[in-house]
Amino acid sequence: MTLALRINGVAREIASDPETPLIHVLRDELGLKGTKLGCGLEQCGACAVLADGEPVMSCVTPAAAFAGRDIVTIEGVAALPAGARVQAAFVQAAAAQCGYCTPGLVVAVTALLSRSARPGRDAIRAALTPHLCRCGSHPRVLRVVDAALAERWP
Ligand code: FES
Ligand code: FES
Repeated sequence: MTLALRINGVAREIASDPETPLIHVLRDELGLKGTKLGCGLEQCGACAVLADGEPVMSCVTPAAAFAGRDIVTIEGVAALPAGARVQAAFVQAAAAQCGYCTPGLVVAVTALLSRSARPGRDAIRAALTPHLCRCGSHPRVLRVVDAALAERWP
């Protein structure tokens, strides 16, 4: 028996055990390696994907919990209006060092700017807090958000 998931706009039939955390299905069954496994304990944000537009930590959430939800991984973010601009802003600001945390941060900023055209400092802080960066890229990520807001995010 397979599990039906919708990932990056495509219907997929998943053969893995439905209780498998989604990140392993993405990386090991589907070959979507952009989502990174960091702590595996819902503590670092590296594994974030969007589920119906909201970031979810895929390292602890079983694949079955995503049934009926619209999953977007880092590979699909550019297809979202906000996602394409967020990715471009990350590149322009060189807002990554090793880049391990970057897919999760791109997902988080895309979710933030998709739900609010003018997020306040508290909302920005709340969106970024679950995402650790051992290279210290957060100041540059804040510049990404500021640059996006300065150009009148739609
Ligand atoms: S790998 Fe999922 S939160 Fe760290
Ligand atoms: S850029 Fe290296 S962990 Fe964030």
